[in-house]
Amino acid sequence: GARRPRSATGATRADAPDVEAQQGKTLTTALGTPLPDTDRSLTAGPRGPVLLQDHHLREKITHFDHERIPERVVHARGAAAHGRFESYGTAGELTVADFLAPGRVTPVFTRFSPVVGSRGSSDTVRDTRGFATKFHTSEGVFDLVGNNIPVFFIQDAIKFPDVVHAAKPHPDREIPQAQSAHDTFWDFVSLHTEAQHHTMWQMSDRGIPSSYRMMEGFGIHTFRLTNGEGVSSLVKFHWKPALGAHSLTWEEAQLLGGVDPDFHRRDLADAIEAGALPQWELGVQVFPDTDDQSFEGIDLLDPTKLVPEELAPVRPLGLMTLDRNVSNFFAETEQVAFHPGHLPPGIDVTDDPLLQGRLFSYLDTQLTRLGGPNFDQLPINRPHAPVNDMLRDGYGQQATHEGIAPYKPNSLGGGCPFAADPGEAVRDIPVPIASSVRERRTPRSFEDHFSQARLFWLSMTSVEQDHIAAAYSFELGKCTDVGVRERQLECLARIDEGLCATVAEALGLPVPDPAEPPATDLDPSPALSQLGRRWPV
Ligand code: HEM
Repeated sequence: GARRPRSATGATRADAPDVEAQQGKTLTTALGTPLPDTDRSLTAGPRGPVLLQDHHLREKITHFDHERIPERVVHARGAAAHGRFESYGTAGELTVADFLAPGRVTPVFTRFSPVVGSRGSSDTVRDTRGFATKFHTSEGVFDLVGNNIPVFFIQDAIKFPDVVHAAKPHPDREIPQAQSAHDTFWDFVSLHTEAQHHTMWQMSDRGIPSSYRMMEGFGIHTFRLTNGEGVSSLVKFHWKPALGAHSLTWEEAQLLGGVDPDFHRRDLADAIEAGALPQWELGVQVFPDTDDQSFEGIDLLDPTKLVPEELAPVRPLGLMTLDRNVSNFFAETEQVAFHPGHLPPGIDVTDDPLLQGRLFSYLDTQLTRLGGPNFDQLPINRPHAPVNDMLRDGYGQQATHEGIAPYKPNSLGGGCPFAADPGEAVRDIPVPIASSVRERRTPRSFEDHFSQARLFWLSMTSVEQDHIAAAYSFELGKCTDVGVRERQLECLARIDEGLCATVAEALGLPVPDPAEPPATDLDPSPALSQLGRRWPV
């Protein structure tokens, strides 16, 4: 059963029974009245009409009628497991976050998810995969809500509804489910060319992983860590799978989509049940917290850019092991609520405009998806740290708060002091801000849309390049609008002329004229250019 809700003081109340299901030996109504029968409605005589006064009939059907909740607007289909995170104790000079201190073991819950498909879609479609981990630390929840691809489609959260509208099934026929196999997707990414880098990763074998156990994970955004001396650094989070990163072939992905649409969730659950526990090492790339928030010419606030590991190696911080399957999909996998703003002291956000928008979106959507403001009290979401907030009432309130003065300061008793030690509290690090507010301009460094896509392409082996060219050819082959196809070919020409020519031939379209070097092709990082072909990421 569920753990007891906490009261205002963080203690559990002895007189409030746990929300338990399946207690006792007899079948009861929702309120505990024993039932003699659950198969026959109460009728007027053996063949007469059904009586409205049959409470059990109404309760049973009413509850059933409300069993479904809205699926997530993205990442609707998921598979999840419980586990533990063991800290290596190597982060002391970077952050005061307690769960990264030596010897700490923290319970975690991780949910993997394709982005676009609905709850009933197939696992092996070509798509980005979510990789979200909830750390139940002693200082509250830390949610690392990342993906298996280290860059994102867009640079500003204001475009997120647009990219999702473009990637979801067409509104008229609600087909197809697979991402990228339709006109609106290619229309969007060829017009919003910052998406080209992410799209290239999707068209690579990274878009069809073999298994959730064999996926890398990336926090994508740059975060700010602060150590005990108040010194900050900028970091990007990485998960490295112990089994290595592996992918399906396109033929395997298609066959599995028909034969076993649950392939990835089955694989995860079977492996854990069999004791083949999946593991990932968490690490960070570390960059100095300079005023320009750039590293080697790469803008750290641009989520469509990565920093190659040759320029900033990943420093290991700890090991995650998933060791327990969920026992109830709805209660755990479906009701879990992640939020990129759930951060412990010592980990902070940066001004990445994509991250900033996410900080609003997750709570907002969960208010609808999980029915009101108290979903943090659901068992899967409850922090494992004492809670002492001044939030009160609302739909689904589980706690019975004490006292009459939920405000601070108050002179009527109750409440408790703020954390005295800055190490124990959320710490606001002063950072410079712009001198003017009303601007809707993109930073110049954000205008480079192609150089990293090109480096990714050049870092691939010839087999991997063949797969990428085949994926573009297949997916663009499903795009019916010739103008959209041609515009995407122009984007490919800016990335690599050879790739463009191969795809153009497969589509039976002419190779676009070599374009003037586009204004958006700034390639601002000499360090990246030097990496050339030797650029495994
Ligand atoms: C859900 C990752 C950008 C809005 C998710 C989930 C992941 C994820 C992993 C599924 C969480 C789960 O398993 O429950 C990312 C990453 C992003 C990104 C890595 C960029 C780096 C955005 C942006 C927005 C957004 C820009 C909105 C402005 C949402 C919403 C959900 C979601 C509304 C559903 C949450 C829920 O219903 O609980 N995202 N996302 N995401 N994301 Fe994002």
